Amino acid sequence: MRLVLLGPPGVGKGTQGRRLAAETGCPLISTGEMLREAVAQATPLGLEARKQMDAGRLVPDEVIVGLVRERTAREDARAGFVLDGFPRTVAQAVALDALLAERGLRLDAVLYRWVGEDELIRRLSGRRECPVCKRAYNTAGAPSRDGVHCDDHPEVALQARADDAEDVVRRRFDEYRGKTAPLVDHYTATGQLRSVLGRGSVDEVYEALRRAAGRDPQATRVG
Ligand code: AP5
Repeated sequence: MRLVLLGPPGVGKGTQGRRLAAETGCPLISTGEMLREAVAQATPLGLEARKQMDAGRLVPDEVIVGLVRERTAREDARAGFVLDGFPRTVAQAVALDALLAERGLRLDAVLYRWVGEDELIRRLSGRRECPVCKRAYNTAGAPSRDGVHCDDHPEVALQARADDAEDVVRRRFDEYRGKTAPLVDHYTATGQLRSVLGRGSVDEVYEALRRAAGRDPQATRVG
């Protein structure tokens, strides 16, 4: 399947995307993760992207579209993929449709999640991540067993993300409202939007997303 996970910062795109990818056998393609790897390796792309990411702003469309074009063309993405964090502007959505059309393909569904901003800011301030396997934890609702190390890598200390500082988070929400939220109308118009709304647990949301991926465009409520 070719799926897109759409929603504001902290809504759970990465958390749910990893599960969907594991179940479908398709790769999870996270543009945020690709950019963070480029930053960590200090590539020219990473050095340039870092300025935007640290400021909570979107990286230019042409840079991101080039990354996605290359990544989705790889062998492991031939049967499908789960896109996390892309597209994030209407221009990116149009570019994605065009590059899939060149290959005789189209998206199966755009899975949209939304919960209130106060809850998302609370989640992001508590988010901790394993630098090795990228498993997400939360100091508030979903801590690791000892609260400090990854359950799967007991020698590795969990880290907070640099762009989860509160002032940066607020700018990321501004970017989301201005540039990404219009994609809800865009994909409603194309008939590809599947909405899963409400504050359910990770498991409840996952079940709702799985069902939404294969059903009519009707909002599902969890929690
Ligand atoms: P990116 O990494 O994509 O960040 P984001 O979209 O802001 O999303 P997050 O990764 O912060 O959150 P998430 O929705 O994945 O939530 P998570 O599962 O971690 O992008 C980072 C930056 O890269 C951007 O700001 C931009 O600069 C650049 N960029 C990336 N893509 C771009 C593009 N296409 N164009 C231009 N620039 C781009 O969950 C969050 C927390 O909540 C976790 O602690 C988790 O445990 C917890 N949680 C999850 N689900 C639940 C639940 N149901 N209940 C309770 N807690 C939950």
